[in-house]
Amino acid sequence: MWSRRSQVKADQPSNASPTAAGATLIGRRLVLRPIVPTDFDQWREVRTRCEAWLTKWEPARVAGAPDTVGDRQAFAARCGARTREIQMGSGYGFGIFVDGYFAGEININSVHRGPFQSAYVGYWIDERHAGHGYTPEAVVLVLRFAFEQMLLHRIQISVIPRNQPSRRVAEKLELRNEGVAERYLEINGVWEDHVRYAITSEEWTERRDDLLSSWAY
Ligand SMILES: CC(C)(COP(=O)(O)OP(=O)(O)OC[C@H]1O[C@@H](n2cnc3c(N)ncnc32)[C@H](O)[C@@H]1OP(=O)(O)O)[C@@H](O)C(=O)NCCC(=O)NCCS
Repeated sequence: MWSRRSQVKADQPSNASPTAAGATLIGRRLVLRPIVPTDFDQWREVRTRCEAWLTKWEPARVAGAPDTVGDRQAFAARCGARTREIQMGSGYGFGIFVDGYFAGEININSVHRGPFQSAYVGYWIDERHAGHGYTPEAVVLVLRFAFEQMLLHRIQISVIPRNQPSRRVAEKLELRNEGVAERYLEINGVWEDHVRYAITSEEWTERRDDLLSSWAY
């Protein structure tokens, strides 16, 4: 019978140090770490400049919700909420940093334990950094963390079928296409179909060395 302990391989020690305050993941070109209140100025600059690039692929902002782009206190509260998710084990958020500068986000969301041992990964990158393979690198670093540190069994990435750049990320990593879930997530005010791409720990164990050497190190 498959055991969760069997996922942990000792041949290549992880550079992740998960703590209640968060982990830092270091790749070939990227550093992933939780976003902190002092990242606000860079966050505001990137989110403002990339608003049109990003918002068409994101849930609509709820009326009256705190403005994390325009309000430093609201951004600090968002950072605090992410820290609490880490402490509760329900999620793990990372900023993507290129040459020390904030360049996007990748998050492990909705962690389910019990018999599911599953979570969802979402991401975005600064438009100026698009097309450099940063997101696949970040996904591989996060998959390693999810399977080898968090000991999850399954990760899913959900993509609107017409979002070709995001589909390319999943396809280049050869994640398994599980088909289209209809009216799956609210994106920009519309219940959108999503392609569900998945990978389980068994697949990770088999493919980890190739994925890590191709994308992450
Ligand atoms: C989807 C996204 C995260 C991909 O990130 P990335 O770091 O550019 O990923 P890659 O460099 O691997 O490029 C993926 C694909 O994007 C496309 N692409 C490349 N440069 C691009 C550019 N300047 N603008 C738009 N798309 C571009 C290409 O099709 C590429 O595939 P290829 O490598 O086979 O040519 C990024 O496009 C993004 O943040 N988009 C807006 C938000 C979003 O869609 N988030 C995901 C929701 S599921």
